[in-house]
Amino acid sequence: MSEESAPYYRIHAFVCTNQRDADDPRGSCAARGSTELRDYLKKKAKMAGLLKGVRINNAGCLDRCELGPVMVIYPEGTWYGMDSKEDIDEVVETHLVKGETVERLLLKPEDRQRTHPMRDRAGDHSNT
Ligand code: FES
Repeated sequence: MSEESAPYYRIHAFVCTNQRDADDPRGSCAARGSTELRDYLKKKAKMAGLLKGVRINNAGCLDRCELGPVMVIYPEGTWYGMDSKEDIDEVVETHLVKGETVERLLLKPEDRQRTHPMRDRAGDHSNT
């Protein structure tokens, strides 16, 4: 990659922290715990020494609410659905540190429903 086309951040992750009304049929990432997962991701990335060239930001609704909590990581544009701190640990260790994809959490462009189970959460009405 030439110097001119190198991305500003080596890794730029956006975690949806959008919160919708509890009765919204699509649910929302924040209602399923994305804010806590975002905080944990930032903490784990820092603990892994991933400071320079790595940025983790909040995102508003990424319009994949049914799959949430979701994040997208650039420059590859890799989407993950995550439910737990263990999922975040795997994203940090595998994607952020090794540069490999976490296949079991991967969301494909055509995915409309999760292929891995979502954790039940208080306030989550999308699975009821
Ligand atoms: S609320 Fe997270 S993608 Fe819509």
